[in-house]
Amino acid sequence: MGKPVSGLAFQGLRAPLSGMVQGTSGARVVPVAPAAGARAAAGTVRFEAVSKTYRSAAGEVRALDRVDLEVPAGAIFGIIGRSGAGKSSLLRTINRLEEPTSGRVLIDGEPIAALDENGLVSLRRRIGMVFQHFNLLSAKTVRGNVALPLTVAGVPRSEIGPRVDEVLRLVGLEAKAETYPSRLSGGQKQRVGIARALVSRPEILLCDEATSALDPETSLSILNLLRDINRRLGITIVLITHEMSVIRDICSDVVVLEGGRVTEMGPVWRVFGSPEHPATQALLEPLTRGLPDDLAAALHAQPAPGAATVLQITYSGQGAPDLSALAAAAGAPVRLLQAGIERIQGHAVGRMLIAVAAEAGPDLEVRLRALGGSIERIGYVPSDD
Ligand SMILES: Nc1ncnc2c1ncn2[C@@H]1O[C@H](COP(=O)(O)OP(=O)(O)O)[C@@H](O)[C@H]1O
Ligand SMILES: [Mg+2]
Repeated sequence: MGKPVSGLAFQGLRAPLSGMVQGTSGARVVPVAPAAGARAAAGTVRFEAVSKTYRSAAGEVRALDRVDLEVPAGAIFGIIGRSGAGKSSLLRTINRLEEPTSGRVLIDGEPIAALDENGLVSLRRRIGMVFQHFNLLSAKTVRGNVALPLTVAGVPRSEIGPRVDEVLRLVGLEAKAETYPSRLSGGQKQRVGIARALVSRPEILLCDEATSALDPETSLSILNLLRDINRRLGITIVLITHEMSVIRDICSDVVVLEGGRVTEMGPVWRVFGSPEHPATQALLEPLTRGLPDDLAAALHAQPAPGAATVLQITYSGQGAPDLSALAAAAGAPVRLLQAGIERIQGHAVGRMLIAVAAEAGPDLEVRLRALGGSIERIGYVPSDD
């Protein structure tokens, strides 16, 4: 970790901003501060029976349908769902870019619908937002774009300069302060967007498809930056993405929306480890490998003499699979045909296909089940397959 930058404590955040370098591994995890009295900890969002209906000449669209949800302070909270599921509508109720038709949204325990105009302005300062298409002003330099929220808020010039420098350092763009957006790469533009969102020292950062317009490598560096910001500054991040790997890699919790309703939610390892709703299973399809073609072609439903048994073992949060115990319990040669085991928040999640030689005998599943994981017999392959 770098040297602390003197005098740059982000007020209202749970940790001072100390010499942040994006992409640093081994970042310190900032403990979540306990809630003061009955008030929720800074950065919590609570949705209570939030519904949203859009009415236009074309008719009515029920975009959100009684959403109940709690985003804990300091979380990286993912929102997933098909296109049109209501993700953006939900996110935009947090800073009142959209008003719920019914129900309420509470930030740190305060219902935000009650805020008057001044209250709304200060609420929006506590909530930064990052967009897919960056939304930068082309006529302003990087510095000018990042300074904008402060200029608009009437912050004295003497304070703006140092604060802009501070967030530009945070996102690794200090050398580009006087550059215009047209001369920046996509990743650099998004770093400007993030710096602008952080310059008001928010406690919550909203990201609507923030990495969707970026190539995979750039996307990864932006995600690392977001994760670092979350860890070091303790900012709650609520993000929408259609990339399941983003959720798997950086989110602590995830909610699945379908037709404006919450279908599933919880810690990522649990939702991804055992997705229960068909909508979730469909979304996770890109992360799950199907049966390899050659294996599917060789597979028989009935055992021929000497055929090996093909088993699929699914791990949904148990400890790491113990391969020697597996082979010992099988009591016969075991071949690994295919495996995809992820480690999510310290939990083993994924699936492997094994072929167990015929001499394993009966009750194979019973013996293996004792080792953890759920076991399904897929079929049989000739012994040399
Ligand atoms: N301003 C609007 N006016 C009318 N319909 C809207 C508006 N914004 C969104 N919708 C509709 O509401 C539904 C949810 O939209 P949205 O929240 O943008 O979903 P997502 O972000 O998951 O793709 C969609 O059917 C969409 O067409
Ligand atoms: Mg959207």
